Amino acid sequence: MSRTVIRGGLVITATDELHADVLIEGERIAALAATGSDAAAAWGNGDAQVIDAAGHYVIPGGVDAHTHMQLPFGGTSASDTFETGTRAAAWGGTTTIVDFAVQPVGGALREGLDAWHAKADGNCAIDYAFHTIVSDVNDGVLKEMDALVDSGESTSFKLFMAYPGVFYSDDGRILRAMQRGAANGGLIMMHAENGIAIDVLVEQALAAGRTDPRYHGEVRHELLEAEATHRAIRLAQVAGSPLYVVHVSAASALAELAQARDAGLNVFGETCPQYLFLSTDNLAEPGFEGAKYVCSTPLRPREHQEALWRGLRTNDLQVVSTDHCPFCFVGQKELGRGDFSKIPNGLPGVENRMDLLHQAVVDGRISRRRWVEIACTTPARMFGLHPRKGTIAPGADADLVVYDPTAVQTVSAATHHMNVDYSAYEGRQLTGRARTVISRGTVLVDGGSWHGRAGHGAFLRRDTCQYLT
Ligand code: URP
Ligand code: ZN
Ligand code: ZN
Repeated sequence: MSRTVIRGGLVITATDELHADVLIEGERIAALAATGSDAAAAWGNGDAQVIDAAGHYVIPGGVDAHTHMQLPFGGTSASDTFETGTRAAAWGGTTTIVDFAVQPVGGALREGLDAWHAKADGNCAIDYAFHTIVSDVNDGVLKEMDALVDSGESTSFKLFMAYPGVFYSDDGRILRAMQRGAANGGLIMMHAENGIAIDVLVEQALAAGRTDPRYHGEVRHELLEAEATHRAIRLAQVAGSPLYVVHVSAASALAELAQARDAGLNVFGETCPQYLFLSTDNLAEPGFEGAKYVCSTPLRPREHQEALWRGLRTNDLQVVSTDHCPFCFVGQKELGRGDFSKIPNGLPGVENRMDLLHQAVVDGRISRRRWVEIACTTPARMFGLHPRKGTIAPGADADLVVYDPTAVQTVSAATHHMNVDYSAYEGRQLTGRARTVISRGTVLVDGGSWHGRAGHGAFLRRDTCQYLT
């Protein structure tokens, strides 16, 4: 069995910071020992490979619980394949993704999962799992949910209060899915925006000649996110089920989550780097540039960012995922020239998340341990992957990042690895970068070189949510 020692780094988990060496045997972490101790020194004898981590952090590989590789959406398809998207994720220090398999309307959850397995199998550079998008709740689907939770193939289910005619479910369907989740342990994830009301505002805006990208943000009014969030919480309360609200962007929606949590409900919230670092200023960039920033929920005015950071500090928000759903500016975002409602919704970011959040550590917004918690540990616990993923402990998968906290980089589409022709963070200077990225004991990235391969990544079965109070 291969042996590797990561020597001399500062090991950071959600709870601890320790100067320790990490011993990897095969695909797993075997032990930790204080740097300089006799035990740690002895690991370097024999044929063990020693990775020098002096002056670096050693953190768990990132867990991005919200990606959309190759998603057919908005009349086109997300531009990262499982191969390109997982490679880019690894470059950025993420070693696990949870993507969304889509139930075709009129079809079974099984059909969606089979299609997603076919896209991902043999192509991923890092480990991956699937949530299921439920676009058509019916008796058969409810039974399928039981079986998927039992087998661990998919233990979380996303429903949409937005996108009428595409993924939308009405309140009755949502309630039925939540009741099933309450019974079988599946976690209901919610895209909380009032899509019916939004569609009225879209129609009115277009009729009045308001067609530029910035109107995407205006019609998707923050109160329609807050209202849907409130409704989702109440429906979950009636059903007795936990609830995970995805891509929270509005301060008023976050206030709904905070209130529910104060009342002791198992209600959780995820936000994304784009809501923490970008704003409606980007949507209003000149010409058609704003199309690069069209996603749903939409970017909000800058003032919302402070509330989201506060929510991350107070644990009213528990997870930062990317909602990585890239569309090229040329040929894809351009589908919406002259009609913002035809701009495919989604932003690239799977490669940038760990570094953007580290910048928040540098800026004093969050602690190092909170960085690891919101980007690695809690997503793993939320979606039943812990302690295999998301932490550094004996027995866990050896998914590790040797992170250089002083490296300075300038984010650019010219140098990123995502298959998309722009960066939402073009020109931004960040301090910190993954130097060595290890997945199940195999080095994928080291010092700017790629050593990984498509097919290394394995499909992960999951437990039910491990974050319930
Ligand atoms: O704009 C977004 N978020 N696109 C991906 C689909 C979704 O709603 O998560
Ligand atoms: Zn969504
Ligand atoms: Zn999404």
